[in-house]
Amino acid sequence: MKIDHLGIAVRSISESLKFYRDALGLELTATETVDDQGVQVALLPVGESRIELLEPLSEASAVGRFLAKRGEGLHHICYEVENLETQLEALKAQGVKILDGYPRRGAEGKRVAFLHPASANGVLIELSETVKDH
Ligand code: CO
Repeated sequence: MKIDHLGIAVRSISESLKFYRDALGLELTATETVDDQGVQVALLPVGESRIELLEPLSEASAVGRFLAKRGEGLHHICYEVENLETQLEALKAQGVKILDGYPRRGAEGKRVAFLHPASANGVLIELSETVKDH
């Protein structure tokens, strides 16, 4: 397993790039709209992981609600896994709460699922599997 990315909720990707790209010096390698999650994402690699800036497409989206309630900040940690279904079954068997209960489509065509923060010491966890024949 590795940390695929750290998701950070921001009000504006272009505003936040003034820090992450211009001041900190990270390279912006991709931007994408993920309709399934109601967000625009920007990816900036750091070693073998990435920073994922998340700007909501609407206030009703999960990230829009997060911003309204908690403001900008760390939103989730994403671990890359080999076989998402197997991992989810194993986690369920351990009593871990899985949001939605089924894999969704994430950025870069990956299959993703989210674990409830109540099961992970207050941290929203994303699991992502790269789809090879994408
Ligand atoms: Co993510």
